[in-house]
Amino acid sequence: MRLVFATLNKNKAAEIQKMVKEPYEVITLTDLNIFDEIPETGANLQANALIKARYVHQMLGYNCFADDTGLEVDALNGEPGVHSARYAGTAKNDNANMDLLLQKLANQSNRSARFVTCICLFWMDEMFVFEGELKGKIIDFKMGTNGFGYDPIFMPDGYDITLAQMDMFTKNQISHRGKAFKKMAEFLIENQL
Ligand code: IMP
Repeated sequence: MRLVFATLNKNKAAEIQKMVKEPYEVITLTDLNIFDEIPETGANLQANALIKARYVHQMLGYNCFADDTGLEVDALNGEPGVHSARYAGTAKNDNANMDLLLQKLANQSNRSARFVTCICLFWMDEMFVFEGELKGKIIDFKMGTNGFGYDPIFMPDGYDITLAQMDMFTKNQISHRGKAFKKMAEFLIENQL
């Protein structure tokens, strides 16, 4: 059964495909030759995931889902949150985003933060939401070269390395996105047609 993931990111699609297995075939917008940048204008992560999933559902009518992730820093009242990808400006620039965050936290002793992923699934014309979170802290400088985004400055609770120093298998096991994907995969396996 076809399940469209409203993303252009093939790595994310491969991660969820491994979890849902047969009879589901996870395909991306790239596979469908759709290269539209769907505007993420929602006020929160769930609203953005809904916009992306609904766009595809209305265009194609397939069962489909979309995700949105943000980093929420307690001392900054949940910033950058929904603005995580473009915190330092319009270009998606991981280094500039991290530099801005470190600058804002320069004299701040409360470093706690969490990543949150929200998935919105249109399944048989009903909508379902799944969430995953990873709690941790923002360290003072960048460490590690793996991963992407804010990984070099995020140290998950219970670890003394950053996400960027972790191998991808371990990151996927503990991550916000991994947990949200797992919840959706369990739902799809339970509700197989
Ligand atoms: P997206 O919704 O997955 O595109 O994520 C939005 C933004 O959040 C990304 O551009 C990154 O800056 C940040 N982000 C999302 N997931 C991660 C992660 O696993 N590690 C670090 N940063 C992330």
